[in-house]
Amino acid sequence: MASVQVPETASAAVLLRSEPIPESYVPVKGPDFDKPLSLQQFLESYQRIGFQANSLGKAIDIVNRMHKWRLSDEPIAEDESDEYRSPEVRSRTRCNIFLGYTSNLISSGLREIILHLVKHSHVAAIVTTAGGIEEDFIKCLGHTYVADFNLDGADLRKRGMNRIGNLIVPNDNYCKFEDWLTPILDTMLAEQQETGQVWSPSSFIRRLGKEIDNEESVYYWASKNDIPVFCPALTDGSIGDMIYFHSFRNPGLILDIVRDIRELNELSRKSRKAGMIILGGGVCKHQIANAMLIRNGADYSVFINTGQEFDGSDSGARPDEAVSWGKIRAGAESVKIHGDATLVFPMLVAATFAKDAPGIVFEQQQ
Ligand SMILES: NC(=O)c1ccc[n+]([C@@H]2O[C@H](COP(=O)([O-])OP(=O)(O)OC[C@H]3O[C@@H](n4cnc5c(N)ncnc54)[C@H](O)[C@@H]3O)[C@@H](O)[C@H]2O)c1
Repeated sequence: MASVQVPETASAAVLLRSEPIPESYVPVKGPDFDKPLSLQQFLESYQRIGFQANSLGKAIDIVNRMHKWRLSDEPIAEDESDEYRSPEVRSRTRCNIFLGYTSNLISSGLREIILHLVKHSHVAAIVTTAGGIEEDFIKCLGHTYVADFNLDGADLRKRGMNRIGNLIVPNDNYCKFEDWLTPILDTMLAEQQETGQVWSPSSFIRRLGKEIDNEESVYYWASKNDIPVFCPALTDGSIGDMIYFHSFRNPGLILDIVRDIRELNELSRKSRKAGMIILGGGVCKHQIANAMLIRNGADYSVFINTGQEFDGSDSGARPDEAVSWGKIRAGAESVKIHGDATLVFPMLVAATFAKDAPGIVFEQQQ
């Protein structure tokens, strides 16, 4: 058959020439497992894999920046207060990192990763929900077990087993929790009545952290390192059940959420630099973002969650929505990783806060 010309319009459409590639473009490339690779190099390779791996790479960069930042990195502004003119004070003034997480993450093994951050004072404040408080103490009294998403609910109920995703918590743990908590509630109520001191959720959590006196507890370390833990909805969990029972037996305990909103917002307002690291959505995400509004927005933001934005939920909102509200500063560094925090957060911490921790031993092999 005689050859005919390729139709010009089709070839022009398919073989459209590219503009020159801007110098800032980075080629996509995955790790090569046939070459020696340290853990840090492996984690850095995520930056060039694409999709959510890229977002992890960006999050590593943002967290490293917030961790490293000191006021001494910046020139002294003309209107700087006397307090912040001293070079020593400037080199001690760090970015305040506000860490938020949903309750289930304390039920999971992320508890130990969070504990590392609190034990080493890498964060300035925490916001979580009630389960995120009580499950930490309950784990000091009995184990949570790895199980299966498909276990039958009615059968588990008969056996006194509670399911959180693919984890199981024996109901006995909650009975032990009541035995531990009730006398503490009695003492706290007596102190309130004797001294007139009213408890807030954060001072309540600080007290429980002291009482547990156990290095395996996140809130033991928060209490020891004076890191405030805010839980605006402290009653929405087993702690609420115990406070409810206690209100019949020995009524009168008051928890003042006004004191806590003032403390959280003031900490934000006074932060010279502020970053958010938020795992999951709901109250823990918005309460921190809302506190950032008080200072006209966060400087650094890392969100890790599975929420989607099509339903208009705050849980699923990307950082740009928070920019529109003044909760993240325009032009600030931010990223959302779409994914399960149990997969992503251990890698993020290994590549940032814990990169020099003695526990990370996967050195490059020669
Ligand atoms: N262990 C528990 O989970 C537990 C225990 C007792 C009480 N509660 C109560 O249940 C209520 C709801 O819990 P909540 O507000 O902490 O959050 P939640 O479990 O309702 O999650 C809120 C959103 O966060 C995101 N998210 C949750 N887990 C995630 C993960 N692993 N990775 C990425 N994104 C994730 C999802 O978008 C989810 O819709 C709270 O009042 C809490 O006190 C929970």
